[in-house]
Amino acid sequence: MVADYRKPLAPGATLGVLGGGQLGRMFSQAASKMGYKVCVLDPAADSPAAEVSALHIKADFNDQAALTELATVCDAVTTEFENVPANSLRLLQKSIPVSPPPEAVEIAQNRNIEKAFFKQHQLPVNACAAITEVADIAPAITGMSGKAVIKTARFGYDGKGQQVCNSVAEVEAAFKEFGAVECVLEDFVPFDCEVSVVLARDIYGNIETFPVVENQHKYGILDLCIVPARVSEKVITDAQALAAKLATAMNYVGVLAVEMFVCGESLSLNEIAPRPHNSGHYTMDACNYSQFDQQVRALAGLPVGEVVQHQPAIMINLLGDVLLAEGFDWSKLQSVRNAHVHVYGKSEARAGRKMAHVNLLGSDTESLLAQASTFS
Ligand SMILES: Nc1ncnc2c1ncn2[C@@H]1O[C@H](COP(=O)(O)OP(=O)(O)OP(=O)(O)O)[C@@H](O)[C@H]1O
Ligand SMILES: [Mg+2]
Repeated sequence: MVADYRKPLAPGATLGVLGGGQLGRMFSQAASKMGYKVCVLDPAADSPAAEVSALHIKADFNDQAALTELATVCDAVTTEFENVPANSLRLLQKSIPVSPPPEAVEIAQNRNIEKAFFKQHQLPVNACAAITEVADIAPAITGMSGKAVIKTARFGYDGKGQQVCNSVAEVEAAFKEFGAVECVLEDFVPFDCEVSVVLARDIYGNIETFPVVENQHKYGILDLCIVPARVSEKVITDAQALAAKLATAMNYVGVLAVEMFVCGESLSLNEIAPRPHNSGHYTMDACNYSQFDQQVRALAGLPVGEVVQHQPAIMINLLGDVLLAEGFDWSKLQSVRNAHVHVYGKSEARAGRKMAHVNLLGSDTESLLAQASTFS
């Protein structure tokens, strides 16, 4: 049985979130603004989300007793990361509303299942093949351009668990280095740029799409987001339509992020995230509703808000590397008058760890880019 969603939750209700990282923290901040209490389920004692939330259940994501407690305490539950066991979401769904749907989370957990879903719904995706043993590699690469990317099917993030290869031998070596776990081999896409679309879909089927974001990566990690993306009107419209089609096909409720490659005027799908996304952080200051506001609204059974972007924006990720570098000084950032600094409250800065982000707002993208270049 699936619990009834149809009555919007009034202020005072408690919302649960599986995962206690920065996405959970920003969800919690948005929820508290709207009068909801938040209960975080996360095994870590020093969770960024728990620090700003009313309640914290310190337990693993498959701890049955903890899940039962969460279902008792909360009126609805969401997740801030895709690797929570789908069965835990199913268990919660027996007694309270859960969004996004466990099936959507399950699709996003495995790159092969995700790509099969895209193909099944005739959504554009570049040549790719599942690799479960060495013998799968040579036939898979034959139909590709010669350059390919091997990725572990599960648990990859920030470019971890993937490698660009130029020969069968290189793919084989990478596959073995990954422990011969299930992988996907993707043709290397010579894209002009990468974009993402974050959208929110509510229980009534309304879809509200945020503006298209142009994403730039450094060392495999998202570095900079430019919004609006510097692409044609056609690419903007197509990207938003593609993301909406995907959300509808998944019968999605909540915030969904869709990453895409742009080649000329064509789009192809890279991957999805069944949650708010790093590339949607600009919405916190540049839009009337943030992606976290929408996550709260969808979870609480409210219609998603109509989105307007007030100003062009650039989002810059601040990794541990920057904070640890000699001469780093918070006050330099804090005193920039068009910069909104969001700090995640993580106890320790480490190389490659996302510690904070800055949203720069202005009237024109080129001057914002020039300003952003002085930050690194
Ligand atoms: N097939 C491909 N062709 C060209 N570049 C690729 C391909 N796949 C991935 N990349 C590059 O590597 C980046 C990370 O890949 P992907 O999004 O699949 O992995 P991830 O580890 O889930 O990353 P993230 O957590 O940043 O979303 C992409 O944004 C893109 O820049
Ligand atoms: Mg990605």
